[in-house]
Amino acid sequence: MITGAVKIAHISDLHISGMQDRKQLRDFDRLLDHFNTEGYDHLVISGDLSNNANTSDWKIIREKLEAHGLYHWDKTTVIAGNHDLINLEEELRFYNALNPLPIVRKKAFDRKIKEFCVFFQELITGEDRGSKTYPFIKIINYSSVRIAVIALNSVYPWYPADNPLGARGSVSVGQLHALSQAGVLASLTECFVIGLCHHAYKVYGTDSPIDQAFDWTMELKNREEFLGALKGIHAKMVLHGHFHRFQSYEVNGITFINGGSFRYNSRCYSELVIEGEGKFTQQFLTLPSI
Ligand SMILES: [Fe+2]
Ligand SMILES: [Fe+2]
Repeated sequence: MITGAVKIAHISDLHISGMQDRKQLRDFDRLLDHFNTEGYDHLVISGDLSNNANTSDWKIIREKLEAHGLYHWDKTTVIAGNHDLINLEEELRFYNALNPLPIVRKKAFDRKIKEFCVFFQELITGEDRGSKTYPFIKIINYSSVRIAVIALNSVYPWYPADNPLGARGSVSVGQLHALSQAGVLASLTECFVIGLCHHAYKVYGTDSPIDQAFDWTMELKNREEFLGALKGIHAKMVLHGHFHRFQSYEVNGITFINGGSFRYNSRCYSELVIEGEGKFTQQFLTLPSI
């Protein structure tokens, strides 16, 4: 039945570690084949493409998307996760050897973000010109609905005391300010607005006191400001990853969908079906094992 609804597939946290990662790469091919066979209109990957911030892993993902005809602005959206931008071992080595000023490290981090955005430029701006950085807004017109994806960087640079694992998140003041501009809201008129970042709004806890001690190292520091900015642009939902759980939850009328981790379950993904007038359904689906 042709419903005119828009079907989006969402995966996250692939953590690819080179070409020797054969099973993962085979499973990735299988999943992309499935998305094509099932006629998904768009694919979203919410960060941690690489496990060790290697450009060669980004290249593997790019080539796979190209091979499946998905490497196009209107077909796929990717953002970076902390594992794409921060190599913890390198950070520690650099810090211990040179003890650079925080501003020097921040500049190196900003260069890495830029590198990611330039590398995936086709999926970010879709053209040679245009801003190659966050936040980026993608508005795609389908016959039944106009969808806007608002992509924000939530990866926060490594700092020895404030972000010791490089896994803590923050959305910069500059990005939040950019979203509050009147022109942005005007451009989103009549759009179904989807926020996208790597980190979770939710603070995932466990019952183990030891794990609880580490909860803050994974959290999105300024999640309330982030939520306020999303409310301001009338976002219906937010797609994210980072905490490797396939799960959805609601906060203040916004549905958050955690795309889980392809690394830990390479057969599971989130399906989002959007109809006009803001109606949508979401479910986690699992491919049968071979
Ligand atoms: Fe991850
Ligand atoms: Fe992550």
